[in-house]
Amino acid sequence: MSVSEIAVHLDPGGLVHQLAGDVRTGLGSTPKVLPPKYFYDARGSELFDEITRLEEYYPTRAESQILHHRAAQVASLTGARTLVEIGSGTSEKTRLLLRALSAAGTLQQFIPFDVDPVVLQGASAAVAAEFPGVKVSPVVGDFERHLDKLPASPRRLMAFLGSTIGNLAPRQRAEFLTDVRRGLVTGDAFLLGLDLVKSPERLVAAYDDSRGVTAEFNKNVLAVINRQLDADFNLAAFEHVARWDREQEWIEMRLRSVRDQTVRISALDLDVAFGAGEEMRTEISAKFSHARISEELAAAGLRLTHWWTDPVGDFALTLSEPA
Ligand code: SAH
Ligand code: TRP
Repeated sequence: MSVSEIAVHLDPGGLVHQLAGDVRTGLGSTPKVLPPKYFYDARGSELFDEITRLEEYYPTRAESQILHHRAAQVASLTGARTLVEIGSGTSEKTRLLLRALSAAGTLQQFIPFDVDPVVLQGASAAVAAEFPGVKVSPVVGDFERHLDKLPASPRRLMAFLGSTIGNLAPRQRAEFLTDVRRGLVTGDAFLLGLDLVKSPERLVAAYDDSRGVTAEFNKNVLAVINRQLDADFNLAAFEHVARWDREQEWIEMRLRSVRDQTVRISALDLDVAFGAGEEMRTEISAKFSHARISEELAAAGLRLTHWWTDPVGDFALTLSEPA
């Protein structure tokens, strides 16, 4: 079998329209904010892939380690015929799951779902080549709006890896989990990867690496706005900031204006003034505990059944089912 035609629920015009609205609102707020889903153009996906290989960025390695140990168990517990992966990116770690599900003889279809069509195309081709017996059906969409557009499929395992759930604000997270629950019936399951609370030093280092890759990733959102909305952000005039918020238990990423400056966003006919030292928030990355996530899952109608961590307890992989 091969890759079916990519299903697109996100026309580029629609995304630019949404970006325009979000940029107008976000840059008009005090403090200023920019929404994170626009990080992932082709360059953003490439930079994220580089982040996953950084010395300081432990989550990808920790989650791979857990998957190495647990993929076969996940396969036998779920008996999944369809694997849906939300925010799939390169689907690299997912190969471990695909191998286990293939070995168990249950897997028929793989549905990777991402906002970036370029990364999705590459990942789909690679998976189809490695698993010739599996139907690969890629979907381009926004997981905050289009989860209900996934093709109907029997015995579903929905996977959401990489602690991407931590990039959603609490209210969006609750809505997202409710959408996931709506996409599951009895016998289906939800596999969720979560970064755990740990020392602020290690957390900050993971989001402010010594080679500056995360800084470049963060500033890429400005390049996206320059291109899509005909703006003139000078990337060199902003600095990457990563802070641990003890109260919220999240890492907050910001961009700090190094001097007084005015940015022109032509497509919005908008001039935005930044003061020297002014910071705008671009992303959060929430960190979890067993108690916090089991409550949030329960509130969405999901029951946590399994909790696995790597040996040092940096990261957790959880399995849930409709309650
Ligand atoms: N699952 C991979 C990639 C994580 S990075 C891993 O664990 O390494 C987050 C991924 O989610 C990126 O591929 C990005 O393009 C995608 N993404 C981010 N926001 C999204 C949204 N709103 N809808 C769909 N995909 C999104
Ligand atoms: N969800 C992952 C995390 O929070 C990946 C990620 C999203 C990320 N945005 C990021 C990593 C920005 C570094 C910087 O860790």
